[in-house]
Amino acid sequence: MTGQVTRGHAYDGIVEFDNRLPNWWLWSLYLACIYSLMYWVHYHTLGTGDLPSEAYIAEQKAAATKVEAMLAANPVSDEMLRKLAKEPAFVAEGERIFRNQTKCALCHKPDGSGLVGPNLTDDVWIYGAKPMDIYTSILKGREQNLAKGFMGGMQAFEGEGMQFVLRATAYVLSIQNTRVPGKEPEPNAKKEQ
Ligand code: HEC
Repeated sequence: MTGQVTRGHAYDGIVEFDNRLPNWWLWSLYLACIYSLMYWVHYHTLGTGDLPSEAYIAEQKAAATKVEAMLAANPVSDEMLRKLAKEPAFVAEGERIFRNQTKCALCHKPDGSGLVGPNLTDDVWIYGAKPMDIYTSILKGREQNLAKGFMGGMQAFEGEGMQFVLRATAYVLSIQNTRVPGKEPEPNAKKEQ
């Protein structure tokens, strides 16, 4: 090979060129170094930015404050629950609660399509489809009452606190009528919008 500088070693007749690295490559390295330095100083040294986990906590705190103000101004109502179901930060936390295997997913499956408990994404409900009906099912639970044809088995979540129940309700409202194929409707469930 003529006109090319090599590194001066050969293995099995294979030599290595000693080319200069292209400028675009060098610049991407320099910029990555500068960026990581700025990132480190911004997030970890000065603490002037919120890391994603901190931003999530701040967002949740803001959502909780909003709910407390709403609760202070008026009691829980259909209208208030519908409003909460349109708050993305609130619904996101409700989803996290719902998908937790020790909370709702255990009986309703992570996607809400039903297992022991009914499918919550269809348009038929045992205890009503209104936000307050869903809220009451979660807050107080639903006990067996065979005389009225209710199978029960839905535990009360009052003990988890209002913020928990409101978030779980907001999430269930957000998946209502999304019709994920799953458990067949219970015989005593009625079609409701
Ligand atoms: C131990 C199992 C179990 C867990 C855990 C559970 N559920 Fe249920 N859920 C049920 C059963 C069973 C029913 C149906 C009760 C009946 O038929 O009387 C039900 C009913 C409901 C209903 C009323 C459905 C309707 O058709 O009216 C809602 C809403 C609901 N659950 C939401 C939740 C949410 C939200 C969570 C978590 C915070 C949760 N459930 C956790 C078993 C469970």
